[in-house]
Amino acid sequence: MQAIKIKPDIYWVGAKDWNLRDFHGYKTNRGSSYNAYLIRDEKIVLIDTVKTTHYSEMLARIQSVIDPRRIDIVVSNHVEMDHSGSIEAILKLAPQAKVLASAQGVKGLPQYFHTADWNLEAVPTGEAIPIGKRHLKFIAMPLVHWPDSMATYIPEEKILMPNDAFGQHIAGEHIFDDQTGLDILLEEAAKYYANIILPYGSQVEKAMQALTGLEVEIIAPSHGVIWRSHIAAIWKKYLSWVAAKQVNKAVVVYDSMWGSTEIMAQAIKSGFEDHQVPVVIRSLKHSHISDIVTDLLEAKFVALGSPTLNNMILPSMGGFLTYIRGLKPKQKTAMIFGSYGWFPNALQTIKEAAVELGWQETQPLIQAKYRPTPAILEQIKTAVANMV
Ligand code: FEO
Repeated sequence: MQAIKIKPDIYWVGAKDWNLRDFHGYKTNRGSSYNAYLIRDEKIVLIDTVKTTHYSEMLARIQSVIDPRRIDIVVSNHVEMDHSGSIEAILKLAPQAKVLASAQGVKGLPQYFHTADWNLEAVPTGEAIPIGKRHLKFIAMPLVHWPDSMATYIPEEKILMPNDAFGQHIAGEHIFDDQTGLDILLEEAAKYYANIILPYGSQVEKAMQALTGLEVEIIAPSHGVIWRSHIAAIWKKYLSWVAAKQVNKAVVVYDSMWGSTEIMAQAIKSGFEDHQVPVVIRSLKHSHISDIVTDLLEAKFVALGSPTLNNMILPSMGGFLTYIRGLKPKQKTAMIFGSYGWFPNALQTIKEAAVELGWQETQPLIQAKYRPTPAILEQIKTAVANMV
């Protein structure tokens, strides 16, 4: 396995996780990559590492250009183990190497690795350290994705390494953004943003403000492709997602026991179509929550439906609500619907979640006892007409 040159003496030495399909609950249909970067200057610098499972792949790539025992500096942009996991193994080969991290990272790394003998050093934001012909400059990006997250910038090369930000979960045969279809990359970047970055929009906005003004020719994130030809496109998308800009689109999410809530969901979908609002309908039995959240990212209208089971919400919708209460998608207009036998408790549970998320709810709860009647279906038509 070979290192891949990004610029003279700067290499991608990461690993592709082709078989990854579950990233702590996020369905990664295209696998992922853990991107680590090597700089060969007067100092040899390794920026981030890979999951422990992929250490040998990273090591082989490093060995294709240098002896890893010569590594002088390991930069840990982020403590999460998909990036810091192999630092311990690298330090066994290069015990003299200094590990640079943010102040939070310096606190976090020993909590994972329980080691006191690392040469750990905190790097203040804005600090630039010389490594020979080049400098490494560090920019704190707290909560993009964890409190410790930071970016490394190489001014002489105009390369930004922002770790999780601008990433995508893709394992592909290529590593640059102009070697894969842009539609695929933006779809995966949206899924990544929706499932990983979404709760931290205001922190992303601050980070982007801190990065504005840097001359950037390459954005090299820690997952997926390296942006060199479509930086403007991904930057524009991030600005839109950070601002929670919504488009005229509806997402109907539901589960059903005996088909009544499904009949209502289909009626809502037809209602949006009648008003020329693009709509997707997602059954929680058949669609993964991480895909549904991607649909939700930019959709102005959301309809959530569940029957009541044993006085509670269906577990599939309960789980979905837990997921979105954590991710906190904003600026939605909601419709809540479902069927019941005795008590329509599921709808109250959905309503509480919508209120907590600050969603606008313009319609009363639409509830059908046992089976939706023509009057209920008419109520749905009116509700959709009032919403759009
Ligand atoms: Fe890719 Fe937050 O780790």
